[in-house]
Amino acid sequence: MQFAGTHVLSVEQFERGDIDRIFAVADAMAPYALRQKVTRVLEGAILGNMFFEPSTRTRVSFGCAFNLLGGNVRETIGLESTSLAKGESIYDTARVLSGYSDIICMRHPTAGSVAEFAAASRVPVINGGDGANEHPSQALLDLYTIRKELHHHGRELDGLRIAMIGDLKHGRTVHSLCRMLTLLKQVKVVLVSPQELAMPELYIELLRQAGHQVTISTDLTDSIAQVDIIYSTRIQEERFASKAEAAMYRGRFRLNQATYTQYCEPNTVIMHPLPRDSRAEANELDNDLNHNPNLAIFRQADNGILVRMALFALILDVAHAVDLHARPVNWYHRRS
Ligand code: NCD
Repeated sequence: MQFAGTHVLSVEQFERGDIDRIFAVADAMAPYALRQKVTRVLEGAILGNMFFEPSTRTRVSFGCAFNLLGGNVRETIGLESTSLAKGESIYDTARVLSGYSDIICMRHPTAGSVAEFAAASRVPVINGGDGANEHPSQALLDLYTIRKELHHHGRELDGLRIAMIGDLKHGRTVHSLCRMLTLLKQVKVVLVSPQELAMPELYIELLRQAGHQVTISTDLTDSIAQVDIIYSTRIQEERFASKAEAAMYRGRFRLNQATYTQYCEPNTVIMHPLPRDSRAEANELDNDLNHNPNLAIFRQADNGILVRMALFALILDVAHAVDLHARPVNWYHRRS
């Protein structure tokens, strides 16, 4: 695909070669993300970071990624703090905000709203999550993480075995990840959820059409026994009619170190898009996993910077010029 000037709205728009290109650029961003070098390649550019729904990682990592390339970030947080709360349309908001920025990242609670915004925008728009629909940059960083973790154990992406666990009905990260997996070969997917929170048929069908083996289960321990990746997710409380309804499902699929040791193959990698729900009644990934070297959740979050830097560099067409604007860092930094 042509990256320059494009919107990123759905994983559907990518081919395998596009993913390889994004990952190659992401790899090249490591010295900047690790503060070994500084680049000013996006000096003068403005990112409009528009988050109309709660976010920590996605919002801050998009902002940091843009800053690390030398650009500036303008941010708006929460529907209630914008004119959308006064009845302004998405069309008008998009026309206005795209006049202030060179690129926009947007999160919104309604499925399809980011595409609607992009259609009216004068600058490229990246979908930071639209309701229960999609979260394409998360799927990119998830696959980037899977690739890195597997390489570490001498394995390739094709032939991947993955269990996705939790609220597969409302989880936009797993929806985008399913689309992403259709770009691979010979994947085995185990979908583990309460029946009421099952993966929508659309995504199961896409996986099957790609020739992948899909197993559906309501049992955690069986499902994690023969996989390379465990991808755990949070019950998406905000998508339920009531908190009480969401609470019925919380804590159904808890993974702790004892379960991991008993059932998983050695070196099974544990992922989660985060936030993990650490309330006692939820605790989908127990804190006692924190010292498990295969708990990749924080490496996964770190990778978000690299992948988002790559998206900006490609969409704003400066990937070739990042190193030309580089210099060493001159402040103390400690990374571990
Ligand atoms: C996810 C999201 O917002 O969809 N978080 C994220 O972006 N890393 C997952 C979640 O909120 O459970």
